[in-house]
Amino acid sequence: MALPIRYIFAIASLGLLSAGIYDYLKNFEENGCEMTWMFEYPKYIKIHMDDRVARRFPQYRLHIYGEGEYARKVSSLKLTGIPVLFIPGNAGSYRQVRSLASVALRKAESSRTKFEFNYFSVNLNEELVGLFGGLIQDQTEFVHECIKLILSFYAGAPKPPTSVILVGHSMGGLVARALFTLPTFDPRLVTTIITQATPHQAPAIAIDSLLNSFYDEINTYWRLHANSTLRDVTVVSTGGGYRDILVRNGLTTLKGVVSQHRGVSTSTMSVPKAWVSTDHLCAVWCRQMVLVTKRAMFDIIDPNTHQVTTDADRRMRVFRHHFLTNSGSQKHRENIPGELTLDPKIPWEVKQNKLFRFSAEKMSSTKYFAVPVIRETEESAVEIDSVIIMSNITRQDWVCACTLKEKQDRCTSCINLSAKAQSLPPNYSNKKVIRMYLKELGEATHIVVIAAHSNQKVEVVVEQYPMIERHLIFNLPGIYYYFIISYPVSVLDMAAMLQIRNDSVYYSLHLTGLDGPMRAYTAHITPRRCRKLHAAEYEGIVYTLNVPWSNESTYGFSKFRETGQFPVKVQSGKPRDAEDEAVHLEMFLHPSCSYHLKLTTSPVHVMGQ
Ligand SMILES: *[C@@H]1O[C@H](CO)[C@@H](O)[C@H](O)[C@H]1NC(C)=O
Ligand SMILES: *[C@@H]1O[C@H](CO)[C@@H](O)[C@H](O)[C@H]1NC(C)=O
Repeated sequence: MALPIRYIFAIASLGLLSAGIYDYLKNFEENGCEMTWMFEYPKYIKIHMDDRVARRFPQYRLHIYGEGEYARKVSSLKLTGIPVLFIPGNAGSYRQVRSLASVALRKAESSRTKFEFNYFSVNLNEELVGLFGGLIQDQTEFVHECIKLILSFYAGAPKPPTSVILVGHSMGGLVARALFTLPTFDPRLVTTIITQATPHQAPAIAIDSLLNSFYDEINTYWRLHANSTLRDVTVVSTGGGYRDILVRNGLTTLKGVVSQHRGVSTSTMSVPKAWVSTDHLCAVWCRQMVLVTKRAMFDIIDPNTHQVTTDADRRMRVFRHHFLTNSGSQKHRENIPGELTLDPKIPWEVKQNKLFRFSAEKMSSTKYFAVPVIRETEESAVEIDSVIIMSNITRQDWVCACTLKEKQDRCTSCINLSAKAQSLPPNYSNKKVIRMYLKELGEATHIVVIAAHSNQKVEVVVEQYPMIERHLIFNLPGIYYYFIISYPVSVLDMAAMLQIRNDSVYYSLHLTGLDGPMRAYTAHITPRRCRKLHAAEYEGIVYTLNVPWSNESTYGFSKFRETGQFPVKVQSGKPRDAEDEAVHLEMFLHPSCSYHLKLTTSPVHVMGQ
């Protein structure tokens, strides 16, 4: 007896749905976060609160973090460093301060910086603040008491701090912002807030009306006072990307809540030199993110006062550098030289070609590679109008452009282009890229790459190309079409296919039609006929998926000769007022291979979305 068709259907849909749920929960690249290692035993020294506060908040505590010798030093509470207070989130533990604190202590010990950070943490009794709004008020008032107490420990310091940096995980980030709504709070006590996976827009789980009205109150306050009380308060918010299934990325943005001149919102997947999605808890200990946060915190310190700089614009430049647009340097630089002087004793090698490639196991001495800018294209060919410069030279000022005067054989100075670079994965490869139109180079005749002395392998690729050949537009068919009408066919052979010829470094595929989370694809990028010319040649290819309407770019990397698989999906739908730019998949390829790019719908991912 045949089962009625609709049962089969129901069972099949149920199967797909559970596959989707499984995908949502499990199918992300395996956890890319590295652990932060401890070198010494952590100590959370309990700080005595005065009786008034202790009676009012008997369930809450304040701790200062220490390890080894440093723990002995800070236990006296006669402090001279820079205070940082960690606020845990929903059911979070004060012990979560450990990763950030430990990395910062290590850095302060190992470097020659003349300052250190003192890390405090509040124990909020692991309350379920994400569910019940009533608790936020108490937590906020307690944190206020802690901030005042913390600053009193610096009375004997030569340059005492006037504010405390707040780092809030999850709801802890909201508590940090809620402080400003307290009638007795002095807004000068907090100028810098860093939040990790904090739902700023709305509660992640809205079951408590008190919590909703709390959100309203805080966000309205922040909107109304952006140009007055909150003028000098800078906020960084990072969401965890796909892996954070408790707090969606869209809830973590500061859009409409904090002015864009005072807030940076991004996702840990897009943060340069992190490029990992972090699940809700991993946001606090993920080493890549801890390192980025630590670097930003060191860079906002004013070298004269050894405290957080009072210049809010400068803090914003530091945060943008580390969280949004890292041009490749470890430290944010306030003054990047506009012009570089070229040393006449360093060899000058002219590299006349549309595609210039160089790689060496090490550079025993510095060299200048001068690539002439192509001004004229052969007749009947498409006009060459763009250039891509990719390298992993670690020198801060590594590329510039110059105009060679008549009768000269080399330039004596050049215009620095290094700040235009963008870091690329994989992490620790120091890879970075600049893409620009040749006309942006003005009169310049040469692009000069300064290949500095290095004991590590160095790679350089400079390619001049016609933009029109590399920007491809591909209209993705709707998922309904694939999924319902031709689902079985699509899995077998109805996939989009693209051939990419060798000798090209950059392609950008504009995916019109990918405008909401209901569509999910996988890109398979298979290298063909790779001809490695040199053993030390540049390895691997990098993909980035750029979503123009939100900060959720994703990055992928695959090794030389290996097929790369890269999810092509977005987490938030295209807003109605968004510009008409499509999601685009950028590929930084290996010029000695040709490629085969296939896009397949991914029904399991679709269900997951
Ligand atoms: C440059 O990249 C290669 C891998 O492609 C790596 O082996 C090398 O260490 C990198 N060099 C630097 C200076 O990071
Ligand atoms: C690209 O392919 C052509 C033909 O297959 C070959 O002649 C050329 O050397 C290749 N270029 C590189 C950089 O491998």
